[in-house]
Order: sequence, then C-alpha cells, then structure tokens
Amino acid sequence: MSETHTPTTLPRTPDQILGPFYPISQTADHSGDLTQHADGAAEGTVLYLGGRIMASSGGPVADATIEIWQANQHGRYAHPADTNPAPLDPHFGGFAILKSGADGRYLLKTILPKPYPVTPTMMRPAHIHFAVTSKNERLVTQMYFAGDPYNDQDPFLQSARRKDALIVSPAADPAQPGALRATFDIVLGAG
Ligand SMILES: [Fe+2]
Repeated sequence: MSETHTPTTLPRTPDQILGPFYPISQTADHSGDLTQHADGAAEGTVLYLGGRIMASSGGPVADATIEIWQANQHGRYAHPADTNPAPLDPHFGGFAILKSGADGRYLLKTILPKPYPVTPTMMRPAHIHFAVTSKNERLVTQMYFAGDPYNDQDPFLQSARRKDALIVSPAADPAQPGALRATFDIVLGAG
C-alpha cells in the first residue's frame, strides 16, 4: 500500500476466541437461510441478521467470506464436541458461509440462539460466532445480544476492549410478525 494521508475513522471490531465448536467437520449452508434444514423448519425465533463488512476507512469490503456458527434454540451446537445434554434440532445445522456483496453487505436468516452452560457454574450468554476472511486479513469474533442476563459475567465479552461493538439490539421485523431483525457491522483493519 502506498502512503496516504487518509485518516483512519473506524476502529477494528474486537477479536474473540474461536471457541471449541468451530464447525470443522460440518457441511456449511450457503443459501443464506439457516431456518430450513433437512426438509423442515428450525425451532426458535426467526432472526434476520445482517450488516456491512467495512475497512477502517469506512469503505465496503466486497467478496469477503463470512463464516457464521451458533447454538440452536436450546443452547446446543450440532458439533460432536458439545456435551450439553440440551436437545439437538434436526432442522438446524447452525453453520453458514456467506459472501459479502459489492457494497460489503451480508444477510443471514437464522434463529435466536440461547445461552448454554460451559461448566456447572458458568453460563455463556447467547452469542453468534463470526469468522470473516478478506483478501488481507481474517477476523474472528462473537456477537452478543443486549439485555442477556449472562453478558455481565461472561469473561469473553468482558475481555473485549470495546464491548459495545459486539452487542446488538434486535428489533421486531416490520415484515414478518414474531421475527426479529438485527444489524452487526464488522470493521476489518486493512479491509
Ligand atoms: Fe459459542
């Protein structure tokens, strides 16, 4: 890159750990819709989750690969290492791969995940994992929900330098009764 005087305006989205349930052996959904799987509808509240992948300059990051994985309506991952006895949902795989558009945007139709236990005395708040890979970098993070009762005691969220950048506030979807909509923008450093 050449030296310029363009000011950096947006701070990079904080990193979070990849976690033990990265879907390394699972087939990803590429349709942008995790609510339909194996000829059935997933249990849970529908969530339209979208946003923009941006460089710190504010410009869009096109054609980034966005991996998204999450627990189901019961707080269980469709992952062999998840020992949580909460039920699996045969109609929810919980692993999507998307590409950002020319405007940096992505959109996923999914369901609201639920909190889950990691030890007998520790619950993780509901969250969704992201790994974004552009031509210049890879950012791994987690997205949380405002008002979750476990947010304040979660060591991963609390370790983030800017917690607010990782917390979304879902709102009722105007077009689909009972569904929610949330925006999660992600800022890479170099784009
Ligand atoms: Fe997780």
